[in-house]
Amino acid sequence: MSSIAVIPGDGIGKEVVDQALKVVRVVRPDWEPVPYDLGASRYNATGEILPDSVLDELDRHDAILLGAIGDPSVPPGVLERGLLLRLRFEFDQYVNLRPSRLYPGVKSPLADAKPGEVDFVVVREGTEGLYAGAGGSLHKGTAAEIATEESLNTRYGVERVIRDAFERARSRRGKLTLVHKTNVLTHAGGLWKQAFDEVSEDYRDIATDYQHVDAAAMFMVTKPSDYDVVVTDNLFGDIITDIAAAVTGGIGLASSGCVNPDRSHPSMFEPVHGSAPDIAGQGVADPLAAIGSVSLLLEHLGEPKSAAVVQEAVERELSTRVPGAPVATAEVGDRVAQDVEQHL
Ligand code: IPM
Ligand code: MN
Repeated sequence: MSSIAVIPGDGIGKEVVDQALKVVRVVRPDWEPVPYDLGASRYNATGEILPDSVLDELDRHDAILLGAIGDPSVPPGVLERGLLLRLRFEFDQYVNLRPSRLYPGVKSPLADAKPGEVDFVVVREGTEGLYAGAGGSLHKGTAAEIATEESLNTRYGVERVIRDAFERARSRRGKLTLVHKTNVLTHAGGLWKQAFDEVSEDYRDIATDYQHVDAAAMFMVTKPSDYDVVVTDNLFGDIITDIAAAVTGGIGLASSGCVNPDRSHPSMFEPVHGSAPDIAGQGVADPLAAIGSVSLLLEHLGEPKSAAVVQEAVERELSTRVPGAPVATAEVGDRVAQDVEQHL
């Protein structure tokens, strides 16, 4: 039996997490998901972002299911850095896993993209790079202001995420693409390329490729079916996974896992989308990305069969949809949960 911490968060986060929990209850009625009130409302009411005591409690769970964090009432960066990124860093979730697949019934903005042909996963480094918070500013708010933002890359951190990506390529179609910008970012790029080439010696069965991030942004649109597994740094991964999500039907369908493969701390599963305050409270948010995140969570906790059932239920739900038709959050949750129940 696993214990799951649930952070519904803000905006549509709560709505989609409610649906994801319907699915969890069907799959594992013996699990008791424990809710944690974190996000904009707690911050606005108490000034607390992520108290250390809550961090310790979260650490005792096997996994975390997160909805979405953020609200216009909170200045940008406060909750992102103080909550979301802090969790990723403190729990050493160095593999930010972002699968992209174009399903039948989903409309891609690419006229030629065929369902089944676009199917890749981006392994985004999750604990270093430009997200590390190194840098600073001088003469703030003046005409002489200077700001620096430094990318932190350790051989240890880069090598472990590259190894993870090679392993994933081995259990998929056997191709791994490194994305960086070695023609300009010679320090960090050099470290990544060197580590990639050295690790590839241990994976001679895997076909490897390298692309600069600007080219990758283009090929992800023009030739998305060429990718199998992509490994890249934190910021490049942030950007290209939004492109990947758009190509495969929009960010409303993209699921992700912030994974700690060593299991020294819990991994966290979340839809890639944000709290969408503009549509919050209307019951129209698509819960499929959150439900897909449950599938990733189940897989991580060693339940591949039920993970597959949840994933297939998401696909069946999508295949019944008329592209562009409105979504009713709770009805989707009920339908998918029922479908999962029938196929377990
Ligand atoms: C994501 C988000 C976050 C990120 C933000 C909200 C900090 O964009 O999960 O992709 O940049 O990682
Ligand atoms: Mn992002």
